[in-house]
Amino acid sequence: MTGKDIASLSDSYLMNTYGERIISVVRGEGTKVWDSSGKEYLDLIAGIAVSTLGHCHPRVVDAIRKQAEILIHASNLYYTEPQAELAKKLVANSFSDKVFFCNSGAEANEAAIKLSRKFGNGKYEIITMEGSFHGRTIATLTATGQEKVRKGFAPLLPGFRHVPFNDLPAVEKAIGEETIAVMVEPIQGEGGDRVAEAEFIVGLRRLCDERNLLLILDEVQCGFGRTGKLFAYEHYGIEPDIMTLAKPLGGGLPLGAVLATETVSEVFSPGSHASTFGGNPVACSAGLATLEVILGESLIERAELLGKYLLGKLSELKEKNKLVSDVRGKGLMLGIELSIPGKEIVKECASRGVLLNCTAETFIRFLPPLTVTEEEIDTGINVLDGVLNQVTPPPISSPLEGED
Ligand SMILES: Cc1ncc(COP(=O)(O)O)c(C=O)c1O
Repeated sequence: MTGKDIASLSDSYLMNTYGERIISVVRGEGTKVWDSSGKEYLDLIAGIAVSTLGHCHPRVVDAIRKQAEILIHASNLYYTEPQAELAKKLVANSFSDKVFFCNSGAEANEAAIKLSRKFGNGKYEIITMEGSFHGRTIATLTATGQEKVRKGFAPLLPGFRHVPFNDLPAVEKAIGEETIAVMVEPIQGEGGDRVAEAEFIVGLRRLCDERNLLLILDEVQCGFGRTGKLFAYEHYGIEPDIMTLAKPLGGGLPLGAVLATETVSEVFSPGSHASTFGGNPVACSAGLATLEVILGESLIERAELLGKYLLGKLSELKEKNKLVSDVRGKGLMLGIELSIPGKEIVKECASRGVLLNCTAETFIRFLPPLTVTEEEIDTGINVLDGVLNQVTPPPISSPLEGED
């Protein structure tokens, strides 16, 4: 099929939830993908932080193949080895004592919300941040601090309060009789790589301890080595009570997880929560292989190193181009804020063979695989630079223009 055929078939039969998609991808290897015409692209977005070892990493492919040959699905009526092994490895490498597996980030956050409410024993309110993104189910879109995500889905779920990000006094003020938890992304990915300040996260931990609240960290996008630590909370010298993971966890297969301390986990008992596919043996095998490569090949250190390199290049871009107003993020979760919408910039970069993404209208982000090279970063930056240079900056308005 040609790219056009794939697009027209998709548009005919799929619900229009994603709008226009830039290309039809048919193959991937490492940091590269190819479209149906054979055109090669440098993928610096990695399926939005999913393909963290690059596409079709041999260790992941091997793990999937081996597991698929012996058992693809068993259901959670039974024990399976890959699920137990991955849970053990996650616990060994984090603050947590217990794991619940599901299939996506939204599901992981749903489970975290349920776990908190069960722990609350009548208390149910969760404080979340403006600009956050926690998923598209009715509970997680209610938790999400973005009006555009919630619009059209009323009545929303009761029990959520949104406060400004990085504003500890606002969190403190929002705590009420029914509050049981505070939920936060250490780096707001969809919100445009907004990094939580150290005082904020440390202050939240203290506040939660003082007021008997749970601290839930959503590391669905920033977790698993991307920021230069296996989990972003390690940057802050604190530990959460609950953490959610997904995106890179299954090495490209759908897998999410909720990790929690023993005290919190034990409020779940048989029947409290479940998932037909959660912890699927093939996805867990792929996840185990991914975690083994991340830890065994020092990819966390690499994310920090290459992140610094990319940050330097983006900062140079900001110096050179007036359209770039900010550079933000951490590790290999970085991007630039533009003074114009970024959608067309991303499209033009793709036509020149580099895949990036625009979030929050004006933020162009890089989420490359942790295996990305300096040369690949250079290529991406050069293409983005070239595209930005061709955009005519909007005229500088006089001080009176734009004033109400
Ligand atoms: C921080 C965060 N939480 C939750 C989600 C939802 O994950 P999923 O799309 O797998 O449901 C996302 C997705 O972008 C995310 O970035």
